[in-house]
Amino acid sequence: MSKNQVVRKAVMPVAGLGTRFLPATKATPKEMLPVVDKPVIQYVVEEAVAAGLEDILFVTGRAKRALEDHFDFNGELERLLIEKKDEKRLKEVRAASELATIHYARQGTAKGLGHAVLCAKQHVGDEPFAVFLGDEIYPEGSKVLARMFEVLSEFGGSVLLLKKVSKAEVSRYGVAQVKATAQSDVVQVTDLVEKPDANEAPSDLAVMGRYVLSPAIFEILENTKPGRGGEIQLTDAIQVLAQGKGPDSAGLVHGLIYDGVRFDTGDLAGYLETVVEFAANRADVGPEFKSWLKNYVSTL
Ligand code: UTP
Repeated sequence: MSKNQVVRKAVMPVAGLGTRFLPATKATPKEMLPVVDKPVIQYVVEEAVAAGLEDILFVTGRAKRALEDHFDFNGELERLLIEKKDEKRLKEVRAASELATIHYARQGTAKGLGHAVLCAKQHVGDEPFAVFLGDEIYPEGSKVLARMFEVLSEFGGSVLLLKKVSKAEVSRYGVAQVKATAQSDVVQVTDLVEKPDANEAPSDLAVMGRYVLSPAIFEILENTKPGRGGEIQLTDAIQVLAQGKGPDSAGLVHGLIYDGVRFDTGDLAGYLETVVEFAANRADVGPEFKSWLKNYVSTL
C-alpha cells in the first residue's frame, strides 16, 4: 500500500444466487467457478492485494464453505503434496491461503447488491472502502484501482469505474449521467439509472464492478427501499450521492473512464470467452489448446 493511500479495506459481495449458472451454482457460488485452474474470485483477490488492499471482507450467503475452504490452510492436501514432492502445486495451494487477511460477513437473504454492501458496515467503519464484484476480472486491475485512489485523493467522495458500452448493452448496466472535469479520463457523475432502456439511457457510460465508496453510503443504504427486481440496489444509493442528497460529509461522485480489458464471468457467454482467452494465453496448456482450437474453429 502506498504511504498516502486512504483506502485499506476491500469488500467483495459473493452472496448472489448466480441463477444464470444453475445448476452449477446450486451449491457453489458463481465466484468459485474456475477460469482454467483458479476460481474467478482468486483473480479478484489477487487484484485487490496488488492494489495494496490486504483486508478483504467477503459478504457471503449460502455455500460459504467453499470460499472459506479455498482461502484457508489445507493441512491434509499440503502433506500429500509434500510427500509427492509436487512443489509447484504445493506453492499454488499455499498461495491461496496466504494471500490476504480475509473476513466474512453473512447476508442471510440475497436482497440485492446494495444490501450486501450494507452488511459490510460494521467491518468497514468510518473510512472510504473499495467494492469488488467477484465475477469481473481486470488484468490491469491494480493500475486501475491506483488511478481510482488518485481520483479519490483529488476529489474526495466516491469514485466509480465507467466504461463505454454499445447501445444494445446499456440495459444490462447502471448508466451514468456525467459532467466533464479538467481531466480527460475523469467525469463528475451527476445521476445514475439502473438498467435503462436504450433510448432512455443518459449516456453510454456504464458502471463497472469496481467502486471506491464513501462510508456515507451506509446511512443511505439503510434507507434505500427495494428497487428494480425487488432488490436493494447499490446504484439507487449511489444515485442519492450523485444528486448531492446524501449526508453533508458524503462528497461528490466521480467516474474514472476506463477503456481497457474486462472479463465478465457472471454471464454465460462472458464466462466461456474468459476461459478460452485465459487458456490460450497460458504458457503450459496454451500451445496445445490453441492448436486444438484452431482446428475446431475451422470445422464450424
Ligand atoms: P449479480 O446480479 O451479477 O449476481 O450481482 P447474481 O444475482 O448472483 O447473478 P444472477 O443474475 O442470478 O445470475 C453482482 C454481484 O453481487 C453479489 C453477487 O454475488 C455478484 O458478485 N450479490 C448480489 C450479493 O452478494 N448479494 C445479493 O443479494 C445480490
